Amino acid sequence: MRFRYPFRNCTVKDKFMAITLFGLILIVWFGNFSHSVGDIERRSVNNDLFNEIENLKRRVQELEHGSLFTSFSENLARSSIMLACSHNGLNCNYGQLYNYSDLFVKITGGAGFVGSHLVDRLMMEGHEVTVVDNFFTGRKRNVEHWIGHENFELLNHDVINPLFIEASTSEVYGDPEIHPQNEDYWGHVNPIGPRACYDEGKRVAETMCYAYHRQDGTEIRVARIFNTFGPRMHLNDGRVVSNFILQSLQDKPITIYGEGKQTRSFQYVSDLVDGLIRLMNSNYSMPVNIGNPDEYTIGDFAKIIKGLVGGNSKIVKKPPMTDDPRKRKPDITRAKNILGWSPKVQLEVGLNRTIEYFKNELRRTTLDGRHFTKLPGGA
Ligand SMILES: NC(=O)c1ccc[n+]([C@@H]2O[C@H](COP(=O)([O-])OP(=O)(O)OC[C@H]3O[C@@H](n4cnc5c(N)ncnc54)[C@H](O)[C@@H]3O)[C@@H](O)[C@H]2O)c1
Repeated sequence: MRFRYPFRNCTVKDKFMAITLFGLILIVWFGNFSHSVGDIERRSVNNDLFNEIENLKRRVQELEHGSLFTSFSENLARSSIMLACSHNGLNCNYGQLYNYSDLFVKITGGAGFVGSHLVDRLMMEGHEVTVVDNFFTGRKRNVEHWIGHENFELLNHDVINPLFIEASTSEVYGDPEIHPQNEDYWGHVNPIGPRACYDEGKRVAETMCYAYHRQDGTEIRVARIFNTFGPRMHLNDGRVVSNFILQSLQDKPITIYGEGKQTRSFQYVSDLVDGLIRLMNSNYSMPVNIGNPDEYTIGDFAKIIKGLVGGNSKIVKKPPMTDDPRKRKPDITRAKNILGWSPKVQLEVGLNRTIEYFKNELRRTTLDGRHFTKLPGGA
């Protein structure tokens, strides 16, 4: 049976747009693992990340001497169908059943910010991981510490269609009329505004998930991710966390669009990864908000970052952005009830780790004499 690719009549540009919508897609099959861990030959770029990897390494050693199954791998082993179709010479694995002895995870977009953290977690749980990424916004260095490991494979490839978990976004709620936003809210998006490509694109992505779910019984999970930050963010992705940290570190003005009264809720990346894994582990196919409900005005957030970084940056106001959502806060009741999940990392703890990472990145780019380029788009 062939997977019917929904965008087969679209232009390359349309396809590209569609791909970026699907973000992280996990393709998983077959349980049981017992892998040894080789040396991490290429050391992490900074101490924080290095320590993180060392901790994870210890965890694998524990696993090797302890139980062989995590609940994650057990559940995946029990799951029925996998969707893994690709093009341009890659094999199409669509529709295979779980039967073999090794757990195998394929992550598209795995060299990106969120994807690479997911890679770390799964690698350290002993799974075999293949990352498929075209490095459009992701970077090889985000996963370079795994290159050479026997369980790890990195493919430079432009994916087009497979789907298991969709990294959707709070942007599907647009400029919301209800607060906080729960998953039953249909959203308030301007379909022709400057944010529309991303927002409407993500909405279409969800639409496609549920169409395949209804039509073909495709197993889907839809995570509506709220603003996430942490090490490995791209320095110049234009998101508020990276903008403010970078401006503070460089003693440049911290720019707020509008009065700074708009609110956002920020979650640390490890909380997101926990939520995603719990969602994959569940049998729940309706959308689930994964975000931290602690809400800050952008004005206050700028002050917090300035306080943590120090320095002499002034906070300056700029004209408001078109269609900038006025409020953003997830209602995570569903995630709590269905997944037993809630965020754990305090804002300041996460921000300090992220600031350290940005400091190192700045040092590195300065030493390299390289300039970080602006990304074509941001989540
Ligand atoms: N970070 C957030 O705050 C946030 C919030 C809501 C939703 N999301 C969603 O989560 C997902 C991951 O976000 P992120 O912050 O890690 O972004 P990111 O840009 O760091 O990661 C995306 C990865 O996908 C790769 N990619 C893009 N097009 C590709 C293609 N055609 N083929 C193969 N690889 C391709 C990029 O190179 C990159 O490595 C995205 O779908 C994003 O929309 C993120």
